[in-house]
Amino acid sequence: MVAMEPIPLLTPHRMGRFDLSHRVVLAPLTRCRSYGNVPQPHAAVYYSQRATRGSLLISEGTIVSDTGLGFPELPGIWTQQQVEAWKPIVDAVHRKGALFFCQIGHMGRVSTNDFQPDGQAPISSTDKQIAPDAETGMVYSKPRQLRTDEIPAIVDDFRRAARNAIKAGFDGVEIHGAHGLLLEQFMKDSSNDRTDKYGGSLENRCRFVVEVIDAIVGEVGADHVGIRLSPFVDYMDCYDSNPQVLGEYMVQQLNNYEGLLYCHMVEPRMAIVDGRRQIPHGLLPFRKAFNGTFIAAGGYEREEGNRVVSDGYADLVAYGRLFLANPDLPKRFELDAPLNKYDRSTFYTQDPIIGYTDYPFLDDDSNVE
Ligand SMILES: Cc1cc2nc3c(=O)[nH]c(=O)nc-3n(C[C@H](O)[C@H](O)[C@H](O)COP(=O)(O)O)c2cc1C
Repeated sequence: MVAMEPIPLLTPHRMGRFDLSHRVVLAPLTRCRSYGNVPQPHAAVYYSQRATRGSLLISEGTIVSDTGLGFPELPGIWTQQQVEAWKPIVDAVHRKGALFFCQIGHMGRVSTNDFQPDGQAPISSTDKQIAPDAETGMVYSKPRQLRTDEIPAIVDDFRRAARNAIKAGFDGVEIHGAHGLLLEQFMKDSSNDRTDKYGGSLENRCRFVVEVIDAIVGEVGADHVGIRLSPFVDYMDCYDSNPQVLGEYMVQQLNNYEGLLYCHMVEPRMAIVDGRRQIPHGLLPFRKAFNGTFIAAGGYEREEGNRVVSDGYADLVAYGRLFLANPDLPKRFELDAPLNKYDRSTFYTQDPIIGYTDYPFLDDDSNVE
């Protein structure tokens, strides 16, 4: 009998001191099911369903302080109660033999006064409000521009969150520097109109995120740190006039930290070519420049994932919606099995089961295409 070659996505990869048995990563996915901002026991079921020996899971965006909230029932990691609540969830993932990184972030102006302590304005790089979303009807509140002297305290919030994540048992943290949240509000010139040392030049706009990276590396060590960036994405009115240069600058900064584990980048938005959705593959220059493990995300399925791994375009591929709907995604990729379809309507609902832990496994009788 001839042994079958594994598909590229299912080959091993060494990330720093971690040995991964395959390259199919669970992307960070906000699920809005952590009541009172405290992670719940049902999260242990959800994450362990998606854990396999030697795999890498990234948690949903987990908030660093009470000013960082913006959507309902987000998990936090700034109180002892939250840290204790994460522990059994992390344990459940570790029992399956997987690695678990905590994505830590602050939503900045992607928020409303209702989510803020004492109903204050959300904080940001700017006073500029996000334009109301015509599609969803969502209106974010007018933010308040942080004063220069307030920024060190926010850096400390990130530092504490990283320390707490390690205390909770996570193998490391992923800094959320993507998707129009606070760190990106500073990085991109559409949302940074500051005149202090955190605004203006590229170096100034990136100063805050670099201070956050520096603080976290100092606290938990570069070999416990990854970051997610999305220079090309324009969510939440956050875009840059020169995303290429922004991405390159950030990669240079990351390379200053020897052993920093990974750079996780989100592809530019899908382009439709000849009626087919095509991944633009705009990340190659960053992949080439970065010294550590490179993770690509955004619109990948099995075939494209295999291709980018075998081409050396990415070391690992993060899957969001497909992994949400297919708890056994690596197995399905191995067998080239049909995939469950995701249900967008339950992405952000608060039920502990529906749209969360009830997607069928391949070997469930209830499995449907
Ligand atoms: C329900 C949902 C929640 C998400 N939450 C986060 C998040 O907390 N942090 C983050 O960086 N990206 C988040 N994303 C983006 C995903 O991580 C991923 O980049 C995106 O879904 C594109 O990848 P995909 O085509 O594999 O789904 C979310 C996406 C979805 C659909």
